Amino acid sequence: MAQRESWATRTGFILAAVGSAVGLGNIWRFPYQVGEQGGAAFLVIYLLLIVGIGFPVILVEFVVGRHTERNPVGALKQIGSGVWTKIGWIFVTAGFVILSYYSVVAGWTLRYVFLGLQGEYTVDGAPDQFVQVASGLDAVFLHAIFMAAVIAIVALGIERGIELSVKIMVPAIIVISLGLAVYAFTLEGAGEAYAYYLSPEFSTIANNWTQILPAAIAQAFFTLSLGMGVMITYASYLGEDRNLAEDAGIIAVLDTGIAFIAGLIAFPILFTAGIPAGESGPALIFISLAAAFAELPLGGILGAIFFATVAIAALSSAISIMEVVVSYLIDERGVGRVPATVALGVAIFLVGTPAALDLIFVDLYDGFANSILLVLGGLLLSIFVGWIVPDLALDEVSKGVKNIGSLGLAWLWFIRIPVVVALILMVALNAWDYFGF
Ligand code: PFF
Ligand code: NA
Repeated sequence: MAQRESWATRTGFILAAVGSAVGLGNIWRFPYQVGEQGGAAFLVIYLLLIVGIGFPVILVEFVVGRHTERNPVGALKQIGSGVWTKIGWIFVTAGFVILSYYSVVAGWTLRYVFLGLQGEYTVDGAPDQFVQVASGLDAVFLHAIFMAAVIAIVALGIERGIELSVKIMVPAIIVISLGLAVYAFTLEGAGEAYAYYLSPEFSTIANNWTQILPAAIAQAFFTLSLGMGVMITYASYLGEDRNLAEDAGIIAVLDTGIAFIAGLIAFPILFTAGIPAGESGPALIFISLAAAFAELPLGGILGAIFFATVAIAALSSAISIMEVVVSYLIDERGVGRVPATVALGVAIFLVGTPAALDLIFVDLYDGFANSILLVLGGLLLSIFVGWIVPDLALDEVSKGVKNIGSLGLAWLWFIRIPVVVALILMVALNAWDYFGF
């Protein structure tokens, strides 16, 4: 068997993981979740969950990936037994479903790049425009284009495909987002927008926590690419003994930073154009931001730049989802990288096609895969790592760390009880929310 691939550099690994994390979750999903869940109140809970659950769970995935040097299914077969070996299947299924609609939404962003360049954003026509973009053959076509790009990169492999492309994409996303946030700061509505976004009313939290908590945990998992084995897979190509906690920290900070900045871009633009942030749901950045761009000087160009950034961010995430499933086919089934990528790409394209034809499926797929599968996957993996293979986990987090002291143990016990208990509660709340019982 050919030697397994690996990252060429440490930076390559970090950029790939950051590229996976930073995506539609930050720029599309995060602002509309903030809008739906009452502004700053949501932000506070979300930040707490990133630090308290997101960061430790990134490490959970890292230790499994680096230790086994396998795809998620193979990794659990190697170190687990019995039912535990089945967790990998939740990951692969989640990846399949998520990528299928993720690509559809990414296709819309491509369309909005062209609409901006052609000067076609409108205020009154924005809702109709969105409906046209988001459903029908046009959306299927753009979904196909996006999947083709994903296939092309992943087919080239870890070093020449993923690593090389993220070295360009991730810095571009960071620089352009910062530029847009500075621009948004100069807008008239910025002050009011910051107040809405940044000063929480604690009564909102107290009254709505049964809504806010599940929404915030689903967002935290989605945004950090957790609960479906991306971080297992990426860490499986590490090979050397690096300080995993440090890398996990960098990823969490950069991802949270970009989501936060996306809010600093979106809300001033919306407030300046007088468009409510709370009501549009998944259409928020499309209908509302496009309408807002229509009102601003040079809005078409700015909008095109904004949506192009979103599309690039989506691409660097989509390749990571694809890599989970591809690595499974390569490691476990002995399929070659190129045929595995092409076959999967086509299958995912087909599963996503209903979502391109009818918006309903986007919500349905998103709700099921995010709120249920990701959080459940993260919970089961945390139980497994914390309770079933603790020695291996402790050993693995300590590698590459100069003076770990009792920090490793602290992490382990944190996973074992607070994280697991919190995640059980969240899975229950999410299931209640999704299935309505
Ligand atoms: N983290 C990505 C984002 O925020 O857009 C989405 C994502 C990627 C979710 C990979 C899950 C995943 F496994
Ligand atoms: Na993200």
